[in-house]
Amino acid sequence: VASALVGRLRERIRRDGPVPFRDWMAAALYDPQDGFYAARGQHPAGVGQGTHFATSPTLHPFFAHAVARELADGWKSAGSPPDWEVVEFGAGTGALARDAMQELRRLQVPARWTAVDVREGPAIKGGRWLTEAPAAFDAAVANEFLDALPFDLAESDGEAWHALGVGLDGDAFAWRRLGVVADAPWPSAPAGERRARIPGQRPWVDSLEAAGARSAVVVDYGALGPAKEARAFHGHDFADPLEEPGTVDLTCDVDFQDLGEQAAGLGFTARVETQERFLLRHGVLDAINRIDRSTLQGNSDYLRLRQLLLPTGFGTAFKVAVLSR
Ligand SMILES: C[S@@+](CC[C@H](N)C(=O)[O-])C[C@H]1O[C@@H](n2cnc3c(N)ncnc32)[C@H](O)[C@@H]1O
Repeated sequence: VASALVGRLRERIRRDGPVPFRDWMAAALYDPQDGFYAARGQHPAGVGQGTHFATSPTLHPFFAHAVARELADGWKSAGSPPDWEVVEFGAGTGALARDAMQELRRLQVPARWTAVDVREGPAIKGGRWLTEAPAAFDAAVANEFLDALPFDLAESDGEAWHALGVGLDGDAFAWRRLGVVADAPWPSAPAGERRARIPGQRPWVDSLEAAGARSAVVVDYGALGPAKEARAFHGHDFADPLEEPGTVDLTCDVDFQDLGEQAAGLGFTARVETQERFLLRHGVLDAINRIDRSTLQGNSDYLRLRQLLLPTGFGTAFKVAVLSR
């Protein structure tokens, strides 16, 4: 049975015409009743029953340990102050918060963790949940946050770029070309090619500077340039982005070239690398070699850590930007 959201979107399209893709995505993911991230049931990130996509922090705690080590380096570079407020954007299940705080305690970093998301997750030792970021903080963390912000899609007709939206063929949702994008930043491309632009990305990087952040660790599916498609996930498989809204995750690659350049312009040193490089720098091989693979748990740990690291898993599709100043 289709959700009420489907009915509301059909009604809206019949009344006002096709909706821009950004508005479609905002409704599909964040509609308070029926959105994919609505506050019902379990969070879709994770492994196992009822989840739709694995993320690095839900796969293995080593990812959070590596982030914590990077944060500890930032704290030391700032002169090891007596308190260190870390804000995590899009904290989801809270797995990263929990495991990173454990490692930060071990490293004796006096960190407090503020997890920000549209809904609260489980309690965090040494941390709290908020729905809006505080005005000032020392460090920021975001894993798969920017790619979950509603984005604009455009399609080339061979010369100009057209905004893409969603209309109706009968009762079925269908792609529609809307008006020409006047300020399109991309060179012309063959007809049918697409580009994505996340309008929330630049304001978010600006907000790190405005909050006085000294460092940030930003991880996402990424490319060094604009994304060329929207992706959809359902139950750990690719899906059609126009499948029933609210039942699939919508996402795109984050442009790390743009992120790095913008951060550098704001006075940050920006290091952009693959997740593989990032994990190697923080000792993932030692962690893999320490695993006792003779047990079932050890074998599962081994496979999950390799998935974080290898190019066939998360190792190269995911990029890490470490910002510091
Ligand atoms: C792809 S999930 C990633 C969750 C988690 N970081 C992980 O790696 O498992 C994206 C998360 O960003 C959250 N999110 C989206 N827009 C947000 C916003 N404006 N402020 C805070 N969180 C937001 C979503 O609710 C969702 O939990």
